[in-house]
Amino acid sequence: MALALILGWWLVAGSRAQELPRPSLSLHPSQGVSLGDNVTLRCHLPQPAARVELYKEGYSGFKKQAHMDMVQDMAEFPLISVKKEDGVRYQCQYWLLEPPGTLEKSEPVELVVTDPNYPPAKISLIPKECVETGTNVTIQCDNQEFGGIIFLHKDGHSAPLQHQKPNDQATATFTLFGVTVADSGTYRCSYRIGGFYLLSSPLGDGVTLEVTPAPAPPGDERRSHGNLVVAVVRGCAAALVFGLGLYFVLDACSLWIRRDNSPGGEDN
Ligand SMILES: *[C@@H]1O[C@H](CO)[C@@H](O)[C@H](O)[C@H]1NC(C)=O
Repeated sequence: MALALILGWWLVAGSRAQELPRPSLSLHPSQGVSLGDNVTLRCHLPQPAARVELYKEGYSGFKKQAHMDMVQDMAEFPLISVKKEDGVRYQCQYWLLEPPGTLEKSEPVELVVTDPNYPPAKISLIPKECVETGTNVTIQCDNQEFGGIIFLHKDGHSAPLQHQKPNDQATATFTLFGVTVADSGTYRCSYRIGGFYLLSSPLGDGVTLEVTPAPAPPGDERRSHGNLVVAVVRGCAAALVFGLGLYFVLDACSLWIRRDNSPGGEDN
């Protein structure tokens, strides 16, 4: 009996926890926050809450940082004049009035803070800036032995395209295999300094890749010309066969009619 009660309670509690959705946390702006900038953390709620709490990651785990009472659908937590120590992960959590209780935390969100004191990474493009489709293009980024992780960005994309640890020469090598026209654009590098805080160098100078469609090889043209000839010959042959068929049918009909009309034909 006791076991059944415990099992029942566990099932009910489990299903209730599953039904209640997690909140989600977002950053505004989401990218390119530099030391001294303001940024807003928004906790989006699936339902009205009695209280929303913001948690900030520290050396010993996530710690409560701020809270807001009686929230309808979104709680905003502004961070004024961002410091290095703000470059960590954040989570939010909401409390319900009815039934009372806390709910799961949001997925952690990273606030990466740009520190303009770090020199930007150098970038180079191999083989050259203007290539044909299908070429393998290599982009090298050099961060002057600051270590960490090097990121490849493309203008117009908010998230980095690729990242890599630099080698012993402080160089990361990103390859774009068989580029298409869509790979045209301006590329830049940044790097994240290793360590507890999420600090980034500013975006470096850009290199512009221009991908032009490769002209069709001459063999292709000859083949398509050949295909056209084959199609025309086939069309003519079909028309000839159809014409001959029609001729024989008409001829047979006229014979038939002539035989029917010939006098005494049936009296033989
Ligand atoms: C591009 O790189 C791939 C993989 O290394 C290789 O198989 C391919 O032949 C290269 N293509 C060209 C055009 O160099």
